[in-house]
Amino acid sequence: MQYNKKTIRDMDMSGKKVLLRCDFNVPLDKQTGEITDDKRIVASLPTIRYLLDQGAALICCSHLGRPKGEWLPELSLAPVARRLSELLSVPVKMAKDVIGDDAKMLASELRGGEIMLLENLRYHKEETKNDPAFAKALADMADVFVSDAFGTVHRAHASTAGVADFLPAVSGFLVARELEMLGDSLSNPKRPFVAILGGAKVSDKLGVIQNLLEKADVLIIGGGMSYTFNKAQGGKVGKSLCEDEKLDYAREMMTLAEKKGVKLLIPSDALAAAEFAADATPVPCSAFDIPDDLMGLDIGKDSIELFTKEIANAGTVVWNGPMGVFEFPAFAAGTKAVAEALAKSDAVTIIGGGDSAAAVLQFGVADQMTHVSTGGGASLEFLEGKVLPGVACLEDK
Ligand code: 3PG
Repeated sequence: MQYNKKTIRDMDMSGKKVLLRCDFNVPLDKQTGEITDDKRIVASLPTIRYLLDQGAALICCSHLGRPKGEWLPELSLAPVARRLSELLSVPVKMAKDVIGDDAKMLASELRGGEIMLLENLRYHKEETKNDPAFAKALADMADVFVSDAFGTVHRAHASTAGVADFLPAVSGFLVARELEMLGDSLSNPKRPFVAILGGAKVSDKLGVIQNLLEKADVLIIGGGMSYTFNKAQGGKVGKSLCEDEKLDYAREMMTLAEKKGVKLLIPSDALAAAEFAADATPVPCSAFDIPDDLMGLDIGKDSIELFTKEIANAGTVVWNGPMGVFEFPAFAAGTKAVAEALAKSDAVTIIGGGDSAAAVLQFGVADQMTHVSTGGGASLEFLEGKVLPGVACLEDK
């Protein structure tokens, strides 16, 4: 999917009231309520700084968690306003509500160069329902809509898509960069183009596998989803994750890969264990012959060698999903090896968000990647070639 959308550079923002959709869905410490990782706030700063410098009055908005219409105080965006204020070194006014009197008053009094934040959008169930009246109430506070929440562009919600029915809509820098990096890697990859998929389930990645088989030269499948492929080829996978109802699909994909001339690689060996536990004893075995009482929790040494060799020869690598249970040190070697091979390679390296983004961070190689996406579900849907409602609603260049 290629997009050619207007950005904040294509519009005069001076003196405009801007409704800026950010993805401030940050993790919070359950005990203290403190933000434990502010990456998403930091990622929004270039757009915010640019708009403030242009003299825009910024009404920021975001969801936090999934309160489903309930006014849960522990999901207030107030800690985000404080963190944003520290990072920008300017006051960030925090509204007590979303489209209520307080938000409206603060928004109407906001001057160019000032910034405020609305309360958690999902305190209203109308947000996720893309309710037009709710979208209009948000839009009524502003002159322009800027979409910079890449993590939520796959959602057709009021604040991600609905508001664009009432306001001119453009993207911020974060969304623009994500579209450029993900878009270029798929439509114009430096070859060989190696795509690596992992994670628990084949069923989460049906569309992605199919779409990548149209574009990649090599498709590597690891992680929990690979056992379905091992079994589809007649292997024994013991107690490993396996979706029997997807065996036919896996076979179809292998046939399609052959037809398209795509090298489809699955693990030849595994590190298995009797239980899903950090202190379980790793047992090396063939990925096609995992004993009945064991489950595969990581790829084995031969697979690591096979996969990292492909990475070393690649022109472009797109990676989404870990090779094993990398949260358990005894089963982290496969994911770590892939992360390190990417760091070493000269290829364009694109990390889909979610677990693979967490992995490159955990192994200290995130800044050696060409691009680490801020969107988990969103980057996956992009790789699937799906239309992203939060992008489709923006004005074309
Ligand atoms: C994310 O964390 O992936 C985004 O903020 C989207 O959140 P959601 O899955 O609750 O819509």
